[in-house]
Amino acid sequence: MAGSARWVVGAFLATFATLYAALALGAALPEPAPLGIPDPGLFTQWAVPVARVLSDLAALVTVGFLTTAAFLLPSRGPEVQGLAARCVRLASTAAWAWAATTLVLFVFSTSDLFATPPSALSWNLFTEYGTGAETGRAQLAQIVIALLVALLARRTFSVRAAALLLGLALGGLVPQAMSGHSAGAGAHDLAIVSMLLHLVGAALWVGGLAGLAWIALKGSRRLPAAVTRFSTLAVWCVAILAVSGVVNAATRIQGLSDLDSRYALLVGVKVLALAGLSALGFVHRRVSVAALERVDGLSDDAAVRGPARRLFLRIAAVELVVMGMTVAVAVALSRTPTPRPDDLYDTTVNAILGGPLPPAPTLGRLLWGFTPNGVGLAVVALCLALYVKGLLIMRRRGDRWPVGRTVSWMTGLVMVAWATFGGLGVYSHVLFSAHMVSHMVLSMVAPILLVLGAPVTLALRTLPGPRGKGDVSPRQMLVSLLHTRFVSVVTHPLFAAAIFVGSLYGLYFTPIFETAMESHVGHGLMELHFLAAGALFYYVIIGVDPSPRRIAPLWRFVILMVTIPFHAFFSISLMAMTGVIADGYYQQLDRPYATDLLADQYLGGGIAWAMGEVPLVIVMGALFVQWFRSDSREATRHDRNASKNDDADLAAYNAYLAGLANRPAPERKVPQREATDGGADEARSDESDRAPRG
Ligand code: HEM
Repeated sequence: MAGSARWVVGAFLATFATLYAALALGAALPEPAPLGIPDPGLFTQWAVPVARVLSDLAALVTVGFLTTAAFLLPSRGPEVQGLAARCVRLASTAAWAWAATTLVLFVFSTSDLFATPPSALSWNLFTEYGTGAETGRAQLAQIVIALLVALLARRTFSVRAAALLLGLALGGLVPQAMSGHSAGAGAHDLAIVSMLLHLVGAALWVGGLAGLAWIALKGSRRLPAAVTRFSTLAVWCVAILAVSGVVNAATRIQGLSDLDSRYALLVGVKVLALAGLSALGFVHRRVSVAALERVDGLSDDAAVRGPARRLFLRIAAVELVVMGMTVAVAVALSRTPTPRPDDLYDTTVNAILGGPLPPAPTLGRLLWGFTPNGVGLAVVALCLALYVKGLLIMRRRGDRWPVGRTVSWMTGLVMVAWATFGGLGVYSHVLFSAHMVSHMVLSMVAPILLVLGAPVTLALRTLPGPRGKGDVSPRQMLVSLLHTRFVSVVTHPLFAAAIFVGSLYGLYFTPIFETAMESHVGHGLMELHFLAAGALFYYVIIGVDPSPRRIAPLWRFVILMVTIPFHAFFSISLMAMTGVIADGYYQQLDRPYATDLLADQYLGGGIAWAMGEVPLVIVMGALFVQWFRSDSREATRHDRNASKNDDADLAAYNAYLAGLANRPAPERKVPQREATDGGADEARSDESDRAPRG
């Protein structure tokens, strides 16, 4: 049996042995049900965790091969070529495995939930599980997405399409993050968002390494370049895995007393596994990546395919085995009872808010409150980490970055933090007026500050450039992204303004708002939309970053002027309303304060009006400043060109004159009549005459 096949078999054996051990450690080993208790049977009880492990691994490998094709293996053009094209085909195969194993998981989870042996399962039970149970719906959604990826990967030939397919495959992890323990935990949306980041981090890291190991097996010359790229990605994945894993565990391990639970024990095992994997990763960077870099670009095939590659493969194989075992522990963890019972929501309000109703608002609570808002925490943490990383790279290179931009970016993030997980975020779930302040901060205030932080420019200045001729570097990928039709459409001023203003009417004057308020994820997505719509609008109007189109300040001013009345009209119609928006939702909360819902809504409308116009006026001021600056720049450029032209003209004229001066005096033809030399004198005399006037 070939060496690699032996490793694969060994990895599977180690993974399932770990699954057994972890289930035992978590006291979740399958066992026959006591007499009289309906029992799906041991086969089902084993099939569920085994199918879960296989489905997780297939998902990670699918994401890994697509990441390799789209980002790790640099293609020399828009088409995926050579090994990258084969990676896309392998991703299709892995996606078929993902769909099949998740289907098996669906069948046995139905049997498990209804304690009915698989042979006795009926279509009704499948329908009931697939529509009524959160995990059932999640598994069906995952099957559909995996099937889509499998089919589309067969027809994917461009790097851009591979990147989009990667997005779809990562989307296939969302249903899983929204089900299981995260669905029933306290701090609901924090559990879901941290679980999603956790799964994405695991998929890119584990899957990316699997893709690299396959390239190394194929002896690719592009391995060193691909490994260097992966190395940067791996560091981010480890950080995201660690933070999201601990945050996710913390939504269930809430006190010292919980630390002696079996759940906490398994989490501890995972922490150790991550520590071990990080140590292996460190060895990789120090030894095998360094060795590969030394042979990179060498023409000698033997060197490229020699010991450095074998060393990389050996360490990668060990790492992949440990990663498989860690996934097995994770699956056992998802089947281990948590120290705090799921569904601890004893009241409707608790269930809606994911915790108790906050006390009446005070200035102190509005300023310093905290709520574990997963979306807000994730956005602020990621934007902060990426921007600081960019600053560190600039600093290390000795390049300057305007302090004003950094201050603007950080202040924008503080605004986002306050409006999502800060005091304002606490009350934005329960008071329409506070919600409107949060909305205005997220769509009108924070984006102005964020776009003036010039994040795209910082990315373009700090992303790695091409390693060699024809290499498609991360920086070039960003540039080509900025030049896609999609970006050119969404950054069209009319599109940006329509989204910015239209979503106000589309959200509040339709049932969408109430639906969004009733679900944690819906509320998080609504906040993300506010921020994105605002950032897009201000990127177009006052953005300092490069954009696919140059819009004259006059047209930006016009767009702004057109937007203001629509915004004001929205606020006034809100104030004029006689019915309460999302009445059902606010009635359910049954707040002991601000009980007059219509008055609170009227206040919200007033806030929208006041807070809406102020930033727009500030932006107008900023636009004037930019306009004035671009005009004076234009004027300077014009003057510079004019003087250059003048100089050129002058030089040309002088050259012409010089030419005239150097040209030999033309032969003077002496008219027959004078055959004597009188004529010459005249010519000369003419010269002398002219000179003095000259
Ligand atoms: C600091 C280290 C880590 C911590 C604290 C951690 C914590 C967690 C927690 C709390 C869960 C949710 C389990 C549940 O449903 O109750 C989870 C799930 C998961 N973790 Fe981790 N984890 C860590 C490292 C890793 C690593 C290194 C990997 C991959 C190599 C990984 C892969 C996964 C996967 C795939 C799941 C989903 C399992 C499933 O539901 O099918 N984790 N992790």
